[in-house]
Amino acid sequence: MVAVPSGIGICVTPFSGRSGRSLRSEPPSLKAASFWYARFDSGSMIRPIPRGNVSQQRILCQSVAQGYTLMSKKISKTRRRIAIGILVLAPLTAVGYTWNQRTQPTLLTGPMVQLPAANALAVSWTARAVFTAGWVELTGPAGSHRECRIEPDNGKYEARFDGLTPGAYTYTIFNEGLFWRKVAMSGPHQVRQAATRGEGFRFIAFGDSGNGSNTQANLATVLTRQEPDVVIHVGDLVYPAGAAKDYRLNFFEPNAALIRSVPFMPSLGNHDVASDQGRPMLEAFTLPENGPKGIEPERNYYFDYGDARFVALDSNRETEGGAITHDQMKTVVAPWVRSVLSDCDARWKFVYFHHPFYTGSSHAAEGAAYVKEAYVKVFEESGVDVVFCGHNHLFERTAPIKADQIVSDGQGIVYVTTGAGGVSRYPEQDPPPPYIRAFNDTVFSFTRVDVTADRLEIRQINEFGEAIDTYTISHQAKRSEPR
Ligand SMILES: [Fe+2]
Repeated sequence: MVAVPSGIGICVTPFSGRSGRSLRSEPPSLKAASFWYARFDSGSMIRPIPRGNVSQQRILCQSVAQGYTLMSKKISKTRRRIAIGILVLAPLTAVGYTWNQRTQPTLLTGPMVQLPAANALAVSWTARAVFTAGWVELTGPAGSHRECRIEPDNGKYEARFDGLTPGAYTYTIFNEGLFWRKVAMSGPHQVRQAATRGEGFRFIAFGDSGNGSNTQANLATVLTRQEPDVVIHVGDLVYPAGAAKDYRLNFFEPNAALIRSVPFMPSLGNHDVASDQGRPMLEAFTLPENGPKGIEPERNYYFDYGDARFVALDSNRETEGGAITHDQMKTVVAPWVRSVLSDCDARWKFVYFHHPFYTGSSHAAEGAAYVKEAYVKVFEESGVDVVFCGHNHLFERTAPIKADQIVSDGQGIVYVTTGAGGVSRYPEQDPPPPYIRAFNDTVFSFTRVDVTADRLEIRQINEFGEAIDTYTISHQAKRSEPR
């Protein structure tokens, strides 16, 4: 106990608390002291309490003279510093996070370009960003300049430009930063939106690719070096089951360098429809919505490029996880195929889908008879030049076929199975069916097609960039065919 003169000050509890009496601030003279003091109004007794003993405790001081209790509570210096730190740092952290998100959002997938309609170009990507709009700037032939501002939909950005003239374009994607300032995210990237009639172009067909393997990545690199103008995919884009969560590693990352500059136009494989009938693929891509009425859009579609018309089909039956019945294929899709292939003056007509019906692979050597039943007659009567399929993991090229007969060049349809896209390989039958003119089941490969108004050059390119098969179709031979 220490006696002090009365009237100095009352009830010293620097960090407040509660008491049965009035509390006031600590007298300046005591601020530097080593002890805290508690004293009562009418008493002259104080109890010195070493600072080190009271840092986390409630302090109980009892007045001898008055017999009542005064309670006070002290917050330790350490806690006070932490509290101040939080108060100062929290707003700074929030501002910094927002700034970071608005200026440097994380690009998750893409950008990817596609052909959603005639004279149109779609640019899409996904990003981890907060309340942030995106921008695409597009410059084209003769210095034309267009911009598109887009709000994200569940993290996906999708810009679409319509009314474009065929030609080469350059685009850059931006994030909308603070004060609506545009911050470049990716680009500039080149893309050839379309070729005009009479202009040559190159496309690549491949399939059965998406398992995230090194072989897939390697093939994608070799494929990209071929500098195609457009790519079609014959299905099984994402293994094992076409789940949305697997698209980033099994499709977007291996193909990043390709899809940012080359329009990528896929069809649905049996692995792709294993999740929600293939809807993750339909949501990931921006495809033409010009398919048959009564069937979910984007499953079947067509697009034009230069002198060619491409028709993509969903060959997955409802009984095997697909969304289309065999009856719908025959009565709804097939008439639509006939109409889109007949009502056009394209010099070359290509159809692609997943399940082949002229194939000799040991995997599904019998072929997809239901697809053949639904479409082969329509294909033959509509002047289709080449049908591209996958599903069997190898390369096969047939002789020209018409009505199940081998015919002369230009007189029938050539069927190419190009399912050696990097996942695995299935052996060809020994011997192969008589209509198989070329096959390879020992290397991964893709199909490269150089198109001019009068000639198709079809090359199968292996994983080392070497041609393992070459086949040419001339338009003169085609024109001599009575259709
Ligand atoms: Fe398949």
